[in-house]
Amino acid sequence: MSDEFILDTPLVRGFVADVRAAIAGAGSPEAACEAIRPRFAALLADPDWLPERYQEGDPESGMGGGIGQWLLFRAGDRSLTLFALVVPPGSQTPVHDHLAWGLVGLYKGTQDEEIFSQAVEPVERRALAPGDFYALLPPRDDIHRVKTTSDVTSVSIHLLTNDTGCVWRHAYDPESRAATPFRSGYVNVACEE
Ligand SMILES: [Fe+2]
Repeated sequence: MSDEFILDTPLVRGFVADVRAAIAGAGSPEAACEAIRPRFAALLADPDWLPERYQEGDPESGMGGGIGQWLLFRAGDRSLTLFALVVPPGSQTPVHDHLAWGLVGLYKGTQDEEIFSQAVEPVERRALAPGDFYALLPPRDDIHRVKTTSDVTSVSIHLLTNDTGCVWRHAYDPESRAATPFRSGYVNVACEE
């Protein structure tokens, strides 16, 4: 399979090339995330690169709440994806995991993020504003849920080292802590069966 630049712009191609160079030159996921940080911060600070259509929710959402997950780039070997997660005001994601390391940051709106332990106990809560981002290094911080707290839709940018929308991961019931198989899908790209 070949690389898919769904949002095919020089900026996205340059970003992906820089990220790949950083990963190739890093000895660990932690080091790669450190190396990517300045480039990722610049992406979150740039108001012009993400077209409006990728900032819209999805009424048919598989996640519920009108949440839209838009694929922007996917590596041919499925080892890297860039996508936008759009969460309408008042909506929240299920509690879920990602099963891959990478960077997640807020582009528009505000969110509350609740982080859970591997035992699905709430461990931390943080309020996110545009430009805030964090490294996701499973198992640390892998299980969370996000809720939009702004009266406008929130848009977060995800750079993760798997095909996050298409892999089978887990959603969790925060009361019973039970896991169920979860595949979020993408609004704009179908997953293979
Ligand atoms: Fe997430």
